[in-house]
Amino acid sequence: MKKPMYVTQPSLAPLKELQPYLEEIWENGVLTNYGPLVQRFETELAKYLDVPHVICVSSGTSALQLSIRALNISGEVITTPFTFIATANIIAWEHCTPIFVDICPDTWNIDAEKIEASITPQTSAIIAVHVFSSPCDTERITEIAEKHKLHLIFDAAHAIAVNQDGASVLKHGDISTLSFHATKMLNTAEGGACITNDEQLANNLRRLRYFGFNEKKEVVDVGINAKMSEISAAIGLVNLKHLDTIRSKRRAAFEHYRNILSNTPFIQFQNYKADEYNYSYIPVLLESKIHLDRVMSTLEKHSIFASRYFYPALHTLDNFKQNCSLPIAESVAEHILCLPLHDEITENEIQNICYLIENS
Ligand SMILES: Cc1ncc(COP(=O)(O)O)c(C=O)c1O
Repeated sequence: MKKPMYVTQPSLAPLKELQPYLEEIWENGVLTNYGPLVQRFETELAKYLDVPHVICVSSGTSALQLSIRALNISGEVITTPFTFIATANIIAWEHCTPIFVDICPDTWNIDAEKIEASITPQTSAIIAVHVFSSPCDTERITEIAEKHKLHLIFDAAHAIAVNQDGASVLKHGDISTLSFHATKMLNTAEGGACITNDEQLANNLRRLRYFGFNEKKEVVDVGINAKMSEISAAIGLVNLKHLDTIRSKRRAAFEHYRNILSNTPFIQFQNYKADEYNYSYIPVLLESKIHLDRVMSTLEKHSIFASRYFYPALHTLDNFKQNCSLPIAESVAEHILCLPLHDEITENEIQNICYLIENS
């Protein structure tokens, strides 16, 4: 039987490049507790991303959790219904209420112009997501957050190595969060990071991830264990060296798909700017649910597994049901499909997938 092809596969640097880092860990006998490799990873990431403070943590979810805690967010949090479940779950986990606002029909990001209508006296924050790495309208959202004195977090789980107007998109908001999960373009197996321009906030986040300890190892806060391990940092350090190459490879694969599918009448692409996108996903909208079902089942017959990221729209889930109608998010979630995309995918494989899509 043919080897199955999934929506993605981890980007991994050559194993021999990891070996010296593992030897260093074995030599030092330091596996965790903000060890030398996590410190080096943070420094190299800050340089690569051109941002002042990077706080590495155990996952993208814990990066969001610590951000909510560090900013003292409570009450209602405005967010998007078109995102991975982690964004809304962590808001609820922190005893806040996610308030969902509809998305733009072309970028699939939260519609900034609809945010103000959902602000109430209970609102304390906005958590916007750069969906599939395409930046939100950061300028307008920042203006609204400042006007209403709301905290602002950008869930940038997908948006490593993305610039907006020539600067890292991670510079926006009080905090931006990254995920280094195995499926992300830069992975540490599991991991994540908080990015902030504010030194005091950075120190607060560092304490919160480490049981509330300060630099003198005194407990000064109610913290948690959200530390990144040295093994994860080692994987991150070697993978970081290949990130630009990986991005170029994925861009070439994305553009190959796009060239073939651009005239397929039942397929629409996300609206993105070529230089403000990292090409880590290839999401497409199918014209109807019938097209979506046909495409998925044709691909599955050939052991090719596309994914319905992100379905369903989160406001329709029982946990969050809010009696609101958000027609654009519902429609996009109903018709979205992420096609297989990873560093090793070949032009032939892409041509075959496109042929199956067009003939399904
Ligand atoms: C938009 C978004 N936010 C948050 C997360 C959570 O990241 P992690 O899996 O590293 O906890 C993900 C993970 O895929 C995500 O896609």
